[in-house]
Amino acid sequence: MVNNLDKVKQKFIEKLGSVNNEEELENLKVEFLGKSGEVTNLLKAIKDIPNDQKKEYGALVNTLKNEIDAELNKYKTLLEEKKLEEELKNTKVVDLTIPLNECTGSLHPITVTQHKLIEIFTSMGFIVEDGNEVETEYNNFEAVNIPKHHPARDMQDTFYLSNGQLLKTHTSAAQNRIMKKYGAPLKVIFPGRCFRNEQLDASHENTFFQCEGMMIDKDISISNLIYFMKQMLSSVFGKELNVRLRPGFFPFVEPGFELDCSCPYCGGKGCNVCKQGGWIELCPCGMIHPEVLKMGGIDINKYQGFAFGLGLSRLTMMNFNIKDIRLLNGGNLKVLSQTKVK
Ligand code: DAH
Repeated sequence: MVNNLDKVKQKFIEKLGSVNNEEELENLKVEFLGKSGEVTNLLKAIKDIPNDQKKEYGALVNTLKNEIDAELNKYKTLLEEKKLEEELKNTKVVDLTIPLNECTGSLHPITVTQHKLIEIFTSMGFIVEDGNEVETEYNNFEAVNIPKHHPARDMQDTFYLSNGQLLKTHTSAAQNRIMKKYGAPLKVIFPGRCFRNEQLDASHENTFFQCEGMMIDKDISISNLIYFMKQMLSSVFGKELNVRLRPGFFPFVEPGFELDCSCPYCGGKGCNVCKQGGWIELCPCGMIHPEVLKMGGIDINKYQGFAFGLGLSRLTMMNFNIKDIRLLNGGNLKVLSQTKVK
């Protein structure tokens, strides 16, 4: 009988050596530890063992079972690590040390991402609007519930022009004009260039891109927002991603949220892209504040809406694996040649 234990162990070790993926590993587990698996059969055979040897035999089978279980788990982790390594190896990184070898023209990665967003949102019935780059203080701030002296203005270090106008600090500056132009119901996205007096570093630029969206209709809730965001993410990244909402404050939404998505690179397990957290902060959003709707001429007794402010520069960096935001406006042709969409 004890001989049988050795045979089963030997057989398991041989079979484990030729396992290539998680499915095969699962099958091996069933073959040995399943209901009529090899080890389970050894346990069942205890009835044929003489009484005085039963205890010792039982202990030996249990040890074997634990050993096999531990080996299976170890191998599972190994397979997962291998898979992640492969995935990361296949993600191309924009690297300026590689010589420029192609000089044919191509679209800027921001434009590529913007086109993709436009394609996705128009397919879901959204229209596309443009915003001004030079804006009035009213549109940029007052009309989105940020009156003079409101502390929220401090977060957007603004370039004011000598005529009292300013360079728009966010695409939200177009909300008021668009609501007045179309009224409700309304489904719109408006991508655009924004400006802030930022200290430049790998993740801060004075000139960056956002893509804002609004949906105003009867019976609109946060579930609508989550639905559209999930659709957008699965089209951009070519796979289904999970999203989560955390509370966030913006004067023009109530309630306001930060929307995170599960890391598209590691599937949420944790990698250097998501700083091991498994989630990536993607887009602030919320239900449009009634005051903002009112200023846009919308009847708040009939309509509600959601709004979101996607970081277009950020999404582009994620999509093309660009580690430094300054590369986007740097004018280096190597960036274009390496992000060329074939
Ligand atoms: N305009 C905000 C900013 O740039 C981003 C934003 C937050 C836009 C929440 C929204 C929103 O539409 O609902 O800081």
